Formats: sequence, C-alpha cells, structure tokens
Amino acid sequence: MIRFEQVTKQYEKEAQTITAVRDVNLHIEQGEIFGIIGYSGAGKSTLLRMINGLELPSSGKIIVEGADVQTLAAKSLRAQRQKIGMIFQHFNLLWSRTVAQNIALALEVAKTPKDQIATRVTELIQLVGLQGREEAYPSQLSGGQKQRVGIARALANNPHILLADEATSALDPETTEAILALLSDINQKLGITIVFITHEMEVVKKLAHRVAVMEAGRVVETGDVLTIFQNPQQAITKRFVGEATTETDYELTLDELAHKYPQGQLWTLRFSQGEVEKPILASAMKLFNVDFSIIQGSISKTKEGAIGQLTVLVQTENLHDLTAVKTYIEAQDVKVQEVTQ
Ligand SMILES: Nc1ncnc2c1ncn2[C@@H]1O[C@H](COP(=O)(O)OP(=O)(O)OP(=O)(O)O)[C@@H](O)[C@H]1O
Ligand SMILES: [Mg+2]
Repeated sequence: MIRFEQVTKQYEKEAQTITAVRDVNLHIEQGEIFGIIGYSGAGKSTLLRMINGLELPSSGKIIVEGADVQTLAAKSLRAQRQKIGMIFQHFNLLWSRTVAQNIALALEVAKTPKDQIATRVTELIQLVGLQGREEAYPSQLSGGQKQRVGIARALANNPHILLADEATSALDPETTEAILALLSDINQKLGITIVFITHEMEVVKKLAHRVAVMEAGRVVETGDVLTIFQNPQQAITKRFVGEATTETDYELTLDELAHKYPQGQLWTLRFSQGEVEKPILASAMKLFNVDFSIIQGSISKTKEGAIGQLTVLVQTENLHDLTAVKTYIEAQDVKVQEVTQ
C-alpha cells in the first residue's frame, strides 16, 4: 500500500545540510492503523508529508498504491492527494466559514457537482457526530469538535489513506479518547489506512496495529504493538514503553524495596493475552523454594488484546535457584526482566 524504499530527505539551510529522514525502509499495509512515534525533531512529520507529496525525497522512493509519488506529474499528484486525507494538531480550519462550509470546501476544491455537496456534507457530519453544529463557526466549538470537522473534511473525497500529524496533541485526555475511538471506528467502517504521528505511547497503545519508532531521522524499530510493548529492543523504545507504564511513586517504591531486601531480586514480568490468566507464579512457588511478593501490577488494553505487567520481589534462601525459576517462567512465554538500580 505505502512503501518507503531507502528514503532520505535532506534540507539545505544556510550552507548546512540537515538530514531529516535517513535511509528509511517501511511497508504499511492496506487497512492498517500505523503509528509513528518519536521525540521532537526525529523526522516524523517529514516522513508523513512524503506520503502525499507535500515533501519529496532527496533519494529513495515512496510508492503509494503502486505509483511512485515523485514521478507523478503535478496534475495527477493533485488527484493522488485527494486519495489521501490529512488532519493536523491545530485543525487548520477556516475561521470565517461554518462547520458545514469548512467541510464543503474540500468538495468544492475537488469539483464535486454542486447538487451532491449538501448530501455529502450531511453524511460526513453524521459520520463524525456533529449533528446540530452545522452552522457553528470554529470559534464556537471545543477542541474535540474542531478535530471532528478536520476529520470530516479529510474524509470528504473518500480517501484511501488518512494521515494524522499529532491530531490529538492539543486535546485533553478524555477528548483524546473520543477522537481515537472515532478514528478506530472510521478505520473499521470504511477500511481506510491510517498513518498517524504521536510522541505518546498511550496513543499508540490505543490506536495502532503496528508502530515504527523514529530517532534522528531513522526508523530504529518496527513491530506490532503487542510485541513492542512486551519486548522493546531499542533503548528509545524501552523509554517510550516505560513512560506508558511506570509512575514516579512506583519507582520510589522499587528503590526503597531494593534497599530493604538486598538479598531479594525485583523482577518485572510481562504477560500477553492468554498468559494473563495462568497461575504461573503459584506453580513456580510450588516447584521451587521461592517466594514472590507482588509490588505492582497492571493490565492494559491494546488494540490487539490485553497485556499485563507485574513487578514482584523474589526471595529465596539460595539465589542460585533463581536462574531455574526464571527459565521456568520464561518457558511459559512470559518475559522476565530484572529491575536494576
Ligand atoms: N522545511 C525545512 N527546512 C529545514 N529543516 C527542516 C524543514 N522541515 C524539517 N526540518 C528539520 O528536519 C528535522 C525533522 O523535522 P520534523 O518536523 O520532521 O520532525 P518531527 O519528528 O515531526 O518533530 P516534532 O515532533 O517537533 O513535530 C528537524 O531537525 C527539523 O528542524
Ligand atoms: Mg512534527
């Protein structure tokens, strides 16, 4: 559907070369919700903007639905862009136009026959849940409602792909939830491929099927969300996963416990769906001469299912035995990570 082949993007600025995107190879499947996460300046927006030709690569290729974005002539690029909708952090609405007029604009630009515009606008208003607000101006809407207008406008010309650049970053947590639910719903109902950017792992967890982690222009890790949460490889990915699961209080507790029980070990166990319900610790206690005290636990829901995390203090008379315990637990597909301080 969308394929990046060895894509690099450089900007020349005051005799300096900035490499915004470096050697990226990526394949986004039709119908999936694909997240791109990274810190500020990682190259996320540049990468996203190359999908609809707003930026062109310095080298490499981007193939969208079989066509090379770069070789499309200006005219067909416009047609191509209509197949790709985009939403933004600050909504980019026209302040002098009502909700209905903002949405209609996308249809006017695409030269939709006048008599079809009103019907389509009504459909879109319903799709995004803005009934009754058609005649309101953007200044009279909440942030969530503004983004709903943005989404309706982006979907006006029946795009195959929806790009979202930090679409929920300006919204409070509850409104974010509602917008993420709307995007999931749109993906399911209409089968639209969604590529979104965020710097929050929470958003990835709730919305994405798969995710790419970007750092300094490179995609350093890609995978489905469950695997990334369960088994992050790169340091930066571990940091993002940690941000989505740890709290300061909890870290303090860990520190205190490590001091209190220097003879024990702290382990973080990561369970995926299925393992969450198994009595793995109980059976390990029976089999080995070992005690577990539960310090912290959580289950979070991702799009693909539940993942659980449990931090336990492991105590035994003979630390030597712990290797066997670890092996036993890992054999049940539970990841064990020793918490070090
Ligand atoms: N038009 C441009 N001219 C020069 N440099 C640019 C341009 N656009 C982006 N850059 C640089 O490229 C790098 C990547 O920028 P980009 O906007 O893609 O990052 P980002 O991951 O989207 O960051 P943020 O999270 O802050 O939006 C940055 O160093 C940025 O300064
Ligand atoms: Mg950006």
